[in-house]
Amino acid sequence: MKILVVGNGGREHSLAWKLLQSQRIKQVICVPGNGGTATNPQCQNLSLRVDDFAGIARFALVHNVSLVVVGPELPLALGITDYLRRQNLVVFGPTQAGAQIESSKAWAKTLMQSAGVPTPGFAMFADKDEAIAYLKQQDAPIVVKADGLAAGKGVTVAQTIEEAVAAVEFLFKNKFNAVVIEECVMGQEVSVLALTDGITIRPLLPAQDHKRIGEGDTGPNTGGMGAFAPSPLVNPSLMARIEQDILQPTVKALQERGIDYRGVLYAGLMITPQGNPTVLEFNCRFGDPETQAILPLLETPLHELLLACTGRKLAEFPPISWQSGAAACVVAAAQGYPGTYQKGHAISGIEQAQERGAMVFCAGTQFKQEQLLTDGGRVLAVTATGETLEGAIAATYRAIDCIEFEGMYYRKDIGHRVIQT
Ligand code: GLY
Repeated sequence: MKILVVGNGGREHSLAWKLLQSQRIKQVICVPGNGGTATNPQCQNLSLRVDDFAGIARFALVHNVSLVVVGPELPLALGITDYLRRQNLVVFGPTQAGAQIESSKAWAKTLMQSAGVPTPGFAMFADKDEAIAYLKQQDAPIVVKADGLAAGKGVTVAQTIEEAVAAVEFLFKNKFNAVVIEECVMGQEVSVLALTDGITIRPLLPAQDHKRIGEGDTGPNTGGMGAFAPSPLVNPSLMARIEQDILQPTVKALQERGIDYRGVLYAGLMITPQGNPTVLEFNCRFGDPETQAILPLLETPLHELLLACTGRKLAEFPPISWQSGAAACVVAAAQGYPGTYQKGHAISGIEQAQERGAMVFCAGTQFKQEQLLTDGGRVLAVTATGETLEGAIAATYRAIDCIEFEGMYYRKDIGHRVIQT
């Protein structure tokens, strides 16, 4: 079986790595892939843009690709699934209509409201002056969200109304046509990613991400600087509530709107100090770096699960099997990220990190002249497993210590919130 994975991040490297653990998968084609997939003999990088749907379809049809797995939100929001399915390809990922759950915060909020899914109170504005007038009657902290894809930079948790007004002005000046202004809810963030065939859901292990660049969750937001799974905050009874009150009603609401949602429904949740889950956002794809912490613990063959989703057979699928223990992932980033950063620095120490038992997933990297080079802001995601979360975190840091590139930066406190409590 050949599988094509769309994307070039650490998430896609981990998807390719997991898929290739099955004897049934002969090859994973990565579009466009990265330096990590370039060096795996069972992977083939295909130099196409993720929005070159015709090119991807042509390749997949000629090479008898059995399944296309779409990593990032952008091609989903642009309709890659709709396009490839019209060519009779099997695609894991929602249609363009379903991807609105991530590409339009206003659409997602309206969906949640109609489905009775808990989410912070909000107001939506297509007019800048109305948004600012509304803000001036509110108290800080308050959250301002862009209504559209913003590559992780569309959310401002404003500590003052002046900061919120500046965020609204910035968004309207930068091509966004609408904003969502949301009540700021305190607590701990958890990511629950569920696989779905559009009817049935199967949650993966709950994970926690660390979105800020700085230790102690300070500084600007990033794509994610580290993750771990399973989150000890989500006990079986909380997971049952999340399924019953959030995931199932959302999938039902999508279905009632005639939306064919076969892919990942990623709920970005806040668990309030009272222990109640509320939805901060939905994403229409696997999380990055949550996936790099979740997949190493998965024992069920990944391709079988994904095909059960695309074939609408998830209800008949046996329970997902997980390795016991925990996994932690730490992201190594380029100096300056999430602002400007350099590329092209040589990366060393990956084999030594692997010898210490870690999985090293490449993100912003390229393989050029027999050398792995930095090629993005988030460069590597290093994951290790352990009997306990503390053990997994310690093993990850022992491994990442082996790796070097000029300007390498990583947070030293992944897991700090749950380990201290
Ligand atoms: N880790 C955050 C995201 O994937 O959106």
